[in-house]
This record gives sequence, structure tokens and C-alpha cells, in this order.
Amino acid sequence: MTLSSTKEAPTSNLALDLVRVTEAAALASARWLGRGEKEAGDKAAVDAMRLSFNSLNISGTVIIGEGEKDEAPMLYNGEKVGAGLGPELDIAVDPIEGTNLLAYGRPNAICVVGAAPAGTMYCPGPSFYMRKLVVPAAVQNVVDLDAPVPETLRKVAKSLGKDVDDLVVFVLDKPRHQRLIQSIRATGARIQLHTDGDVCGALMAVDPRSEVDMMIGTGGTPEGVLAACAIKGMGGQLFARLDPQSYVEKEAVQNAGIDIRDTLTTENLIKTDEVFFAATGISGGTFLQGVQYSGNGAVTHSMVIRAKTGSLRYIEAHHNWNRLMKISSVQYD
Ligand code: FBP
Repeated sequence: MTLSSTKEAPTSNLALDLVRVTEAAALASARWLGRGEKEAGDKAAVDAMRLSFNSLNISGTVIIGEGEKDEAPMLYNGEKVGAGLGPELDIAVDPIEGTNLLAYGRPNAICVVGAAPAGTMYCPGPSFYMRKLVVPAAVQNVVDLDAPVPETLRKVAKSLGKDVDDLVVFVLDKPRHQRLIQSIRATGARIQLHTDGDVCGALMAVDPRSEVDMMIGTGGTPEGVLAACAIKGMGGQLFARLDPQSYVEKEAVQNAGIDIRDTLTTENLIKTDEVFFAATGISGGTFLQGVQYSGNGAVTHSMVIRAKTGSLRYIEAHHNWNRLMKISSVQYD
């Protein structure tokens, strides 16, 4: 290998620091697997995540957080995170993506964080829901949000060199998707129905190792922005449009001056390639293995993405309680 003087020297990869934040949140919250206590699991993750952020030399502002300050005591939108040194960043967090998945012991609950330079991340404002279509890179130039579902499935199948009945489509199992599910079934395509967790769904759709070929349907707006952080690095495309699910939400979005007819893509949601993403598995499943406790330690499985270089790392970390507890203020065991 030769070094070119016209190219940049390697710079640091913030995602390798962010993964310590998602690992801490996963280690703290996985104790609540299947215990039916949604808030307790979430609180454990939030507390651990917040403490871990303080060890990072960043000046972060939470853009995608746990909600407004009054409803969310920690990691609320606008909260400052990090040691206050270093670059100013927009931060997106979902301490537990799939709080019900964790509480009821179902697969694919994960801890997720994204970071990008200040001002580059889409701020959802009062929007809770967006319609999403996520496809792998080979398909991204042939589909759009407005085409009828059967036409989209035909195009996806053709671009992937498959038949429509070979496809696997990830859909959230929600009453609002009844007609969508019927129309997918009518084409013969196969469906993975998940009660929650469309960040996993979006990332499976662009991951060539996953059996999922695409994701479609309405889910959380914050989850869409988080998924976009990863898709910028993994490749593929997320097409989205705000999709208020109540009159109150629609009015709040319109009063905020947001045009709900706009089509959003990963490029509008994250206006930079300098975006970093980390996720750690909590409950296990096909996406990321869950936390395995072993009495005197634990093993975590994470993914770490830097969009600029397109590097995607899978990290298996072995944590040692005896050593960790001597120095860490986070309570893990
Ligand atoms: P939470 O972790 O906040 O519970 O979100 C889980 C989730 O399933 C997301 O993956 C998805 O985007 C959103 O909820 C869908 O919202 P709803 O359950 O209200 O349809």
C-alpha cells in the first residue's frame, strides 16, 4: 500500500467511542428482559447512557431524545451531553429501541446512538410518525414513495434478480397497516411482521446478510432519523414522508411550518457524510445478539458505522465486573 500526500491522513472514528455508550446502556437495561417493567428498563438504559456520554470529549446537543424536558427527566431534546470539549454535535439517542420488546422478552430490542456535526440532523419537531420505504442500494433509483405497493415490489424484485414471491418485506404489525399487509400478501411476497423495532427493520433491509429485502410502513419519526444515520454508511435508501396519526399531531406539525407533503431521504435527514452510528443488542435476535451475563461479567454485540468511510464493524465486547465496578459509576450487576 502507498500513501498519497493529496489524501487525508486517517482521522478518528467517533463511533468507536459511541459504542461504549450503547454497550453501557445495554448492559444496564438487559437485566429487565421479560420482566414486564417498561419504564424501569428504559430508566436503566437512560441513566447508563447519560453517564457514559460524560466521558466523551464532545459538546453534544440531543436532537432526537426521550421527548420534551418536562416528560423526560433525562436525555430530553435540547439536553447537553458529553464533557463539553471538542466538536459541537447533534446527537440522536434511543436508549431502548423497542421498550416493549425488552419488557416482554421479545427479540431485537437494541440501544442506538447517532452523532453528526451541529445543524446537520433533521429535527422532527412535534412529528411522531413518518411513512418509510427502505431499500438496498441496488434498488434505490427505481422506487419512490408514491408508487402503488405491487409496482414497488415488482421493481424491487427485478432489481434484486428475484421473483416477487422470493421477497421478504419487513412490516410493523399495527392496525394501521392492515391494508398494506393485504396488498403485499396479494402479490405473493413474503412478510416479516414485527410488533416493534423499525430501526432494526430498516437496517435489515439494507444489510445484504439479512433475509429482509425491504421495509415499508409507518413508524416513529425519531427512529427514521436514527436509521438514516446508519444507512448513510451502509448504503441503500430511506424514503420518508411525515404521516401524522392524529388530528392533534397533524395540526402541531403544520403549526411548526413543516410541509407534510415533502419527501425526505437519508440526504435530507442527515445533511452530511460526517455521521457516526452505534447500536448494541439487548434482547438478542437475528439482528444483533443480546447481552449474555456470566456471573462475573457479560458479553455484548454491537455494530459501529462511520458514514464517510463506509466502515461497518461488528464488535463483540467482553466486560469484566471485577475490574469495571472498581472504576465505573454505572451499576451493571
Ligand atoms: P419504542 O422503543 O419507543 O417503544 O419504539 C418502538 C417502535 O416500535 C419503533 O420501532 C417504531 O418506530 C415505533 O415504536 C412505532 O410506534 P407505535 O408503536 O406507536 O406504532
